[in-house]
Amino acid sequence: MLPKWFNLWNRENPTNVFGPAILVGVLGGAVSLAILIVVLGQPYATDSLQTGPRGTGMSVTEFESDLNTPDPDIALLMEDEPYKPDGSEDLAKDIYKNVQVLGNLTEDNFNRLMAAMTNWVSPEQGCAYCHGEGDLETYGEDNLYTKVVARKMIQMTQNINENWDGHVNANKQVGVTCMTCHRGQNVPSEIWFDITPVNEATAGWSAIQNRVTPLSQYTSLPSDALQAYLVDYETIGVHDLESRVANEPGDPLIQQAERTYSLMNYFSNSLGKNCVLCHNSRAFYDTEQVTPQWGTASLGIGMVQEMNNDYLIPLGDVYPESRLGPKHGDAPKAACKTCHKGYQQPLQGANVIQYWPELATTGDPVYE
Ligand code: HEC
Ligand code: HEC
Ligand code: HEC
Ligand code: HEC
Repeated sequence: MLPKWFNLWNRENPTNVFGPAILVGVLGGAVSLAILIVVLGQPYATDSLQTGPRGTGMSVTEFESDLNTPDPDIALLMEDEPYKPDGSEDLAKDIYKNVQVLGNLTEDNFNRLMAAMTNWVSPEQGCAYCHGEGDLETYGEDNLYTKVVARKMIQMTQNINENWDGHVNANKQVGVTCMTCHRGQNVPSEIWFDITPVNEATAGWSAIQNRVTPLSQYTSLPSDALQAYLVDYETIGVHDLESRVANEPGDPLIQQAERTYSLMNYFSNSLGKNCVLCHNSRAFYDTEQVTPQWGTASLGIGMVQEMNNDYLIPLGDVYPESRLGPKHGDAPKAACKTCHKGYQQPLQGANVIQYWPELATTGDPVYE
């Protein structure tokens, strides 16, 4: 019954029982694994998004298992239909004492939004986080810094949705609410401060690099890229196609190149995607060969500069000291990762604005 070579081998090695056992084990294991794969499917199946011409390697590959795992924060989103006003209601500005931004909301919609803000920003502390422990009569006071900050946050959110529509609704209606950044926390994750110099032992350019920090994306690159590009409007760029035998004033510097790569690493980490989501890797400098996502990212740069300079930095004198930067006492700032949190689209592109027309515009809300 057994093959001849086996009987022969067995006669010559009467005491060796391990050899055949290993052979049978390996063969059996391989067959079982093959059966499992056929029955259950490839466990590491991938899907890829092609971002450039065929054959150029421009595709962003992801495990299907990751794509099919929803961001757990999506479960925290609130569905709460707005009340459609019929025009006869009293407005918040007539009912309350000190309503500077949300004056034209009806009482019902005003309170609906207050409840939502509480859920998004201070679910544990409740209304008291911004209004204190007093009764409703005292809610018009601006005694707590949290309320003053929240008012500016409402304006910032309205401005983002209205004026940066090309970014936050780039593919479809998604929009931004307090939830996009805060996720039920008083202080959103992924905020940042100016932490340079990071190397106290030296000065100048050396002092802002060669240290593993979150702002250098854990590399030796400079830690000041967000400050330089997303607050101070410095020019992002590495090179053009000139040969530079003599370096002239105004020519791109090696420092700019290092800082640019530091920022680009930050972009990639913020979105959880590699460079070819936005660039054709054969010509990073060429804006003719980029992907649509590059355009959206470009708008994002302008949006973040405006958020920081017009809204977040001016709040610097409002926060208590404990909220300010560890090194320079600067205001907490936001950037790509404050919204994106490692996803190509925040909350995987869930439409967060649909129930909150009050936050979608700086003008009067439009109820469909
Ligand atoms: C994250 C901060 C925050 C939380 C939490 C919050 N509010 Fe407010 N509330 C504000 C801000 C900011 C204003 C002023 C809005 C404006 O100026 O347009 C305001 C104004 C009010 C007013 C108007 C008071 C007046 O007389 O002018 C009332 C009433 C109110 N809130 C009720 C509530 C209730 C009830 C809760 C809890 C369910 C709540 N708020 C939770 C920030 C908050
Ligand atoms: C683009 C991101 C972003 C959005 C959207 C956003 N916030 Fe903020 N928020 C921040 C940042 C950054 C801070 C500063 C963090 C700190 O206080 O240390 C902050 C701080 C606050 C604080 C102060 C909290 C504290 O304990 O210091 C309140 C209150 C607040 N936000 C309310 C809101 C409300 C209400 C909305 C929606 C109308 C909102 N935020 C939308 C980014 C955002
Ligand atoms: C989310 C989109 C996005 C991702 C991801 C991204 N970039 Fe960029 N990159 C941009 C945009 C937008 C600019 C142009 C910025 C400007 O000029 O205002 C840019 C500029 C650059 C430049 C400067 C080109 C010049 O003009 O000199 C280089 C180099 C670069 N990126 C390399 C990279 C590398 C390397 C990666 C991966 C680590 C990367 N980028 C990831 C969007 C992206
Ligand atoms: C205020 C929150 C917010 C900030 C800050 C932000 N984004 Fe976005 N971004 C969004 C939203 C929301 C979308 C989804 C738009 C859609 O899919 O319709 C988006 C979409 C994008 C897309 C398009 C993705 C795709 O699948 O087409 C890119 C690229 C992008 N953001 C890059 C950036 C970069 C780079 C920065 C920082 C310079 C940044 N974003 C900052 C909210 C933000």
